Amino acid sequence: MTDFDRARTLLDTARRRTLALTDCVDEGELITQHSRLMSPLVWDLAHIGNQEDIWLVRAAGRAAGVRPDLDGLYDAFQHPRFSRPDLPLLRPDQARRYIASVRDQALDLLAGAPAEDGDPLLADRFALGMIAQHEQQHDETMLATHQLRSGPAALHAPPPPPAPADAAMLPREVLVPGGPFTMGTSADPWALDNERPAHIVEVPAFFLDTVPVTNGAYQAFIADGGYGDPRWWSAEGWAHRQQAGLEAPLFWSRDGAGWLRRRFGVVEPVPADEPVLHVCWYEADAYARWAGRRLPTEAEWEKAARHDEHLGRSRRYPWGDADPGPEHANLGQRHLQPAPAGGYPAGQSPLGIRQLIGDVWEWTASDFLPYPGFEAFPYREYSEVFFGPDYKVLRGGAFGVDPVACRGTFRNWDYPIRRQIFCGFRTARDASPREAA
Ligand SMILES: [Fe+2]
Repeated sequence: MTDFDRARTLLDTARRRTLALTDCVDEGELITQHSRLMSPLVWDLAHIGNQEDIWLVRAAGRAAGVRPDLDGLYDAFQHPRFSRPDLPLLRPDQARRYIASVRDQALDLLAGAPAEDGDPLLADRFALGMIAQHEQQHDETMLATHQLRSGPAALHAPPPPPAPADAAMLPREVLVPGGPFTMGTSADPWALDNERPAHIVEVPAFFLDTVPVTNGAYQAFIADGGYGDPRWWSAEGWAHRQQAGLEAPLFWSRDGAGWLRRRFGVVEPVPADEPVLHVCWYEADAYARWAGRRLPTEAEWEKAARHDEHLGRSRRYPWGDADPGPEHANLGQRHLQPAPAGGYPAGQSPLGIRQLIGDVWEWTASDFLPYPGFEAFPYREYSEVFFGPDYKVLRGGAFGVDPVACRGTFRNWDYPIRRQIFCGFRTARDASPREAA
């Protein structure tokens, strides 16, 4: 298979998912804003086509473009999400025709384009990979919009992911030995600017949870009065907890002594052995302090996920360099929930740490900052304008993330108050000198 054919297959996969996420509801649901945090689904739909028009048809394909007049309307920086339902958006049928004609032109133009002519957008088919990732990222966003929708379920409900046979035998935490490792990448052709360049980071020995924090463990924090005790919260976290009235993860409700959750339109008991979802950074940070632990830094997370002590190098994924298969990780919306803690043993790291990739995005302690030697590409608004203390980094990808948009180096970021995304966490602690030796 040529690089172009591979890219086209990934674009086709993304488009099938886009259409499945938008064909399953009627026109009214597509143009409604289901949450002020999200765009109407029909905005995401046309924005996917507009970015493809800009980057594949015009920038890489050097053609005039399908609808350059739509650029302003679908520019995420000109129009914050809450304002988008008031814009003169394309109707759903118009948006569908628009994205189809953009795709036809893009493939016609780029099928014959050289893979190398000095243009970094064409090298290694980067532009095609960037647009496939972009579409899948909006598909994940649309999945989050479906989770926020009220009313009956619209999405096909796949079977739950498999439970591990050995969950009860797993150690609570794993020692990651101290020493340098290679963080980020200069070699992965479709890595985005914020993942670059590769650089050496010294990470002291630490312990990391073998699996993400589960609903059952999180319920113990709630039952112990964790939401009412400012000792566990940062000052900003406590202020936010009070102002927002946080008492449990988003989508949870009390059911006598237990808890229910709403998941894609279905209300069900909260499963104790699944990684907790829909907690904000402040909640994760408070839980960790209550547990006598802390969130891992981004460097610690990546070392645990990529560094192979025996090979003496970082790999693309916890299991090695091979692309994610269905046996490795819960990705690609094959399921609509995380796997029980300890799932996907074939995807564990060399040290035996599980579910680093897939299931839930994991909050880290770190602010979103550039790596040494960072260069914005292909535009400043991709990452650079977000660098700074306002955003916290999440790692690993959730069940709604496609493999094309997920790597051991991949960095996601969001405000520490956000919890409508598919976010959970795991905890860490420093190793004492005796433990580290
Ligand atoms: Fe976008």
